[in-house]
Amino acid sequence: MSDPAPTARAPSKASRYLFVLIAGLVLGAIGTVMAMRAIQARQDHFPDSLMTVMAKQTQLLGDSQKQNRCTISDTAPRLQTLRALANDLETAFPGLRDDERFQQHASRFRATLNDALAKPPADCASLAAISQKVGSDCKACHQDFR
Ligand code: HEC
Repeated sequence: MSDPAPTARAPSKASRYLFVLIAGLVLGAIGTVMAMRAIQARQDHFPDSLMTVMAKQTQLLGDSQKQNRCTISDTAPRLQTLRALANDLETAFPGLRDDERFQQHASRFRATLNDALAKPPADCASLAAISQKVGSDCKACHQDFR
């Protein structure tokens, strides 16, 4: 009888390597997910949340205009919310608050909304003008800082 050891052990060694390889991949995947979760949890969601709400309010203003609902009671609440949210721009971006251009963009945005609230749009044409101004204030800051 010849010694069966070398041929008999070869497949078991290969399956052991395969097991180690798969275990390594699985542990690697679990580790990656855990690391990504940890990074995400440490992230501050405030800046993105502020922008998301501002974007929603702006979109709702645009929707009002498209639906021909341009009375003060349709639009003033949106403009008031945008104006209040604009107070938090510096809080949301602490790394940018000392930048002069950022302050200018934030101030201009607030000024646009102050004007809009002082003279609320009474028809769709004036709402369109305000929406355009608001949109260009958003864009101006994004061009420099986003
Ligand atoms: C004074 C500066 C400034 C103004 C004004 C501004 N933004 Fe932003 N916005 C930023 C910065 C900075 C970012 C990048 C945030 C980031 O990547 O974390 C951003 C990101 C965003 C984003 C992407 C958010 C995300 O999930 O990553 C949206 C949407 C947005 N802004 C909408 C608006 C809208 C709508 C307006 C106007 C109504 C506006 N922003 C006005 C500075 C501004």
